[in-house]
Amino acid sequence: MINDTLQHYRMFIGGEWVEAASGEHFPSDNPYTGQPWALIPRGGAADAARAVEAAHQALTRGEWPKLNATKRGALLRKLGDLITEHSKALAETEVRDNGKLYAEMSAQTAYMAQWYYYFGGLADKIEGSVIPIDKPDTFNYTRHEPLGVVAMIIPWNSPLLLLAWKLAPALAAGNTVVVKPSEYTSASALEFMKLIEQAGFPPGVVNVVTGFGAEVGMPLVEHPRVAKVAFTGSDTTGQRIYEAAAKGLKRVSMELGGKSPNIVFDDAHLDNAVKGVISGIFAATGQTCIAGSRLLVQQSIHDRFVDQLVALAKTAKMGNPMNLDTQVGPVTNPPQFEKILGYIAIAKGEGATAVLGGERASRPECGNGWFVEPTIFTGVNNSMRIAQEEVFGPVLSVIPFKDEDEAIAIGNDVVFGLAAGVWTQNMRRAFTMAERLQAGTVWVNTYRAVSYLSPFGGYKRSGIGRESGQDMIYEYLQTKSVWISTASEVPNPFVMR
Ligand code: NAI
Ligand code: MG
Repeated sequence: MINDTLQHYRMFIGGEWVEAASGEHFPSDNPYTGQPWALIPRGGAADAARAVEAAHQALTRGEWPKLNATKRGALLRKLGDLITEHSKALAETEVRDNGKLYAEMSAQTAYMAQWYYYFGGLADKIEGSVIPIDKPDTFNYTRHEPLGVVAMIIPWNSPLLLLAWKLAPALAAGNTVVVKPSEYTSASALEFMKLIEQAGFPPGVVNVVTGFGAEVGMPLVEHPRVAKVAFTGSDTTGQRIYEAAAKGLKRVSMELGGKSPNIVFDDAHLDNAVKGVISGIFAATGQTCIAGSRLLVQQSIHDRFVDQLVALAKTAKMGNPMNLDTQVGPVTNPPQFEKILGYIAIAKGEGATAVLGGERASRPECGNGWFVEPTIFTGVNNSMRIAQEEVFGPVLSVIPFKDEDEAIAIGNDVVFGLAAGVWTQNMRRAFTMAERLQAGTVWVNTYRAVSYLSPFGGYKRSGIGRESGQDMIYEYLQTKSVWISTASEVPNPFVMR
């Protein structure tokens, strides 16, 4: 299986391209062909420690701590320009490794530059304040300082974009970083390091270690010099990382899973709602944290809406994700493929009816890839596992409701709270639903929109902290209060000032 035709990658530590301490590698597969295409170094605790040490060195000496915020911002904007220039090549690497559509990934890698421009612009606008302090002869002010070394643990679904959400603000704030990409999609982060080099970031400011979660991810989280862990991935892994971070009293930010309701009222523009439901669950083959995996549809239009939905979903073109007209690509990795098929079996066992799909795809255009047919289950009740657990695949559960109160009750009755969609033409309903849904993002008459300008994150088990938007830079800063006395004499030393 491992042969000379595979592209051979190295890790990026302290500005150098290095092998794992063990010298070992593992293959990374192309989900469309089902074949390995690259060799990735299999990092371990020694590599994590080496990368953290490089990041610590870069934080405490050399050029980086001496750069003023304006110059840090300029580096980030230069990186943004390089991303713009190389976005197509980055997208090709993403597609080869995670199987998502080139049409989507090329738009995503181009748009990703905005995070670096935005936080680059923000870098020198983080101002402390002078406090009108209530003590005589005292000057008190605040400084916002970097946290230190930040570990970033990234999943496979949108590797570079999810890294950008963390890396741009962390660097703007003056931190140094060690990135651990997913073992299924490590190549794009390594390709991206070429742009970090080219932009002129000093060695050690950004490092990438590759390998498996337990082998290199956990030692990174546990390393005493890591100040914060920024994670996107599953809630179970998030919980494990949170527990380990707690031992070191480290900060965390977590973007975890979802079981988001996409709620269609009978007063909605139904053609638009059908498209919105499709984009929520079949785009990206359902492999997104914000997947609208529960369709809540008002009883009065249930049958009509499901017919319309099935009719459109049926036309989805599957196949090679590099082809611009492909609409549903493969699943990224074999365990995920098995997990999706497992949930389809669970749903059937629970008595749900597959009105579309419900099996692996064996269309000729799907070749040997890991494809699952777009699947729609009706007859789902919200207490079934298929309605409660994250599938992370093209599997939609349809649940009827009778009125707003019931839509809210069902919509909120999950452990997650990442996102929600509402389809209605009634303005009062739009606002009240947006208020009552327990989710970090609510979309009305749209779905799956994100921006560098707007905060993103989860309620409940969907996460801790927010990404994007101005305020989130403070998740990578800590505040220092500085007291300066102008008194000519130190008063009674035995009482508090
Ligand atoms: P995961 O959450 O286990 O992996 C995400 C990242 O965490 C990867 O880089 C992985 O190497 C790392 N990791 C895993 N175990 C670790 C540990 N003990 N210590 C430190 N790092 C660790 O996700 P996985 O296994 O790739 O996918 C499993 C499920 O997670 C999917 O079926 C899906 O439901 C969910 N998921 C959710 C994502 C989201 O965006 N919310 C993204 C990817 C997966
Ligand atoms: Mg891969």
